[in-house]
Amino acid sequence: MTSEKTKPKKFALTTPLYYVNGLPHVGSAYTTMIADVIARYKRLTGEEVLLITGTDEHGQKIQRTAEEKKLPPQEHCDQIVSKFEELWHKLDIQYNRFSRTTAPRHQAIVNEFLQRVWENNDIYLAQQQGWYCVACEEFKEKRELLEDGCCPLHPNTTAEWRDEENYFFKLSKYQGQLEELYQQNPQFIQPESRRNEILNFVNQGLQDFSISRVNVEWGFPIPHDANHTIYVWFDALLGYVTALLEPEQEPTLDNALSQWWPINLHLIGKDILRFHAIYWPAMLMSAKLPLPQQIFGHGFLTKDGQKMGKSLGNTLDPFQLVEKYGSDAVRYYFLKEIECGKDGDFNETRFVNIVNADLANDLGNLLNRTLGMTQKYCQGSLPSINAADLPQEHPLKTIGSNLGESVTKAYEKLKFNQGCEEILTLIRVGNKFIDEQAPWRLFKEGKQTEVEKILYGVLESVRLAAYLLAPIIPNLSGKIYQQLGFSVDFNQGDRLNEVAPFNQHSQWGKLILNQTLAKPQPVFAKLDFPSGDSP
Ligand code: MSP
Repeated sequence: MTSEKTKPKKFALTTPLYYVNGLPHVGSAYTTMIADVIARYKRLTGEEVLLITGTDEHGQKIQRTAEEKKLPPQEHCDQIVSKFEELWHKLDIQYNRFSRTTAPRHQAIVNEFLQRVWENNDIYLAQQQGWYCVACEEFKEKRELLEDGCCPLHPNTTAEWRDEENYFFKLSKYQGQLEELYQQNPQFIQPESRRNEILNFVNQGLQDFSISRVNVEWGFPIPHDANHTIYVWFDALLGYVTALLEPEQEPTLDNALSQWWPINLHLIGKDILRFHAIYWPAMLMSAKLPLPQQIFGHGFLTKDGQKMGKSLGNTLDPFQLVEKYGSDAVRYYFLKEIECGKDGDFNETRFVNIVNADLANDLGNLLNRTLGMTQKYCQGSLPSINAADLPQEHPLKTIGSNLGESVTKAYEKLKFNQGCEEILTLIRVGNKFIDEQAPWRLFKEGKQTEVEKILYGVLESVRLAAYLLAPIIPNLSGKIYQQLGFSVDFNQGDRLNEVAPFNQHSQWGKLILNQTLAKPQPVFAKLDFPSGDSP
């Protein structure tokens, strides 16, 4: 029996549940890659993780898409869902749950939740008038729309006038409680810039929002009034709760909330912040349920400096990208090049340049040539050396000794770009170090012990870099580890911390590399430049 003390910490996180109006795009891939890196990092440190992703399948937008394709909506959803699963597989996303809002058990959860809110007197019937953006599935104030009546997020879609009877949720009742939440818990919305956006918005005064529709068939009916279907966002947010049910469990709120609730992190893009940081906590307050710990809103991606869009003809197909360049390269670029929380750009030539410079040249080559020297000068194995055998001022020991801790701090704050930079610094110094120390010269001079120490210092740095980068580039890290004689597969999930314990492997100079080291083989092939471009 495991005691309370030895139980691993639990960490549950979510991606948004993606609309199935089209094939997955690079924006959804971006959120999912970040979430997967967080989940892999937590698993590496020994935490028990639940990564939830899934699809948001109801509402007018999906209904219309299915009509255009002349398909029954469920059939349309099933087709698109399989493409999401395929892409996540290609990108090495290790999700634990895939929550679909059309699942019958989701309906049971939504009904039970709605009943609680109803019993709390937070739902009433009234007339809804306003401009509706179907692409956002959200009412907009006139002042939020562009001059031509389109929503700024969807400049090709004109907002539609609605005047109908809807059920409303009393959001305004929660104004005070929400303000208190934001004030007492500054970490609730991150990063800071997004938090400020929400504080400003809430400051202007919250209005109740409608949670039913009369002209949309594709949704769950309101249980006591079948003329209405439940508003897609009210339904979708609860998909996070349904996802917590074990596969065979009876779909009740109690069951769903017994293991993993409250969710530790909802990772989302900045465009859907209001739903998660205002509506969602208020809905939970009304149902008298604990709130999630944090909502983190990442930035938007542009391509070649321009907003991406079908009308501009500059969308970026994540399938093509991963098929052409492989998942490690794609994951690395988005995590290393873009500060999570800020907007970022994708440019293919820049992408190839960065991946080649960092992964092929700096990291891969350093391993390759150092292993080559180990074969040549030490018959492929080093004597037992560790950090204590190297001088205090050893440049790699100096950087390496603090790296595990500082990268951990960066990753905890979702500053993956900063973590990567720090790791790459060690590798760059490693390249410089080996050039300056010139072990080939020392070998000729018969200084065998010095040669061994130099090679150890460099190989240990490459190992540490691979370990700390494993959440981002699991395949490349695994290859590096195997070349260094460890049988560790960074895709093995929960058991990783047993095979390569974090408290040992995240430290420089604790491990002894005296196993027979593999014959060097290139671990990362340089990417080709897009046609017509040169470095
Ligand atoms: N269905 C809702 C979420 C419901 S959650 C209970 C939804 N789906 S979405 O498919 O439209 O968007 C999913 C995610 O993709 C959002 O986090 C959004 O921010 C992200 N992105 C869409 N375009 C993007 C970029 N160009 N760049 C980065 N992310 C963007 O909203």
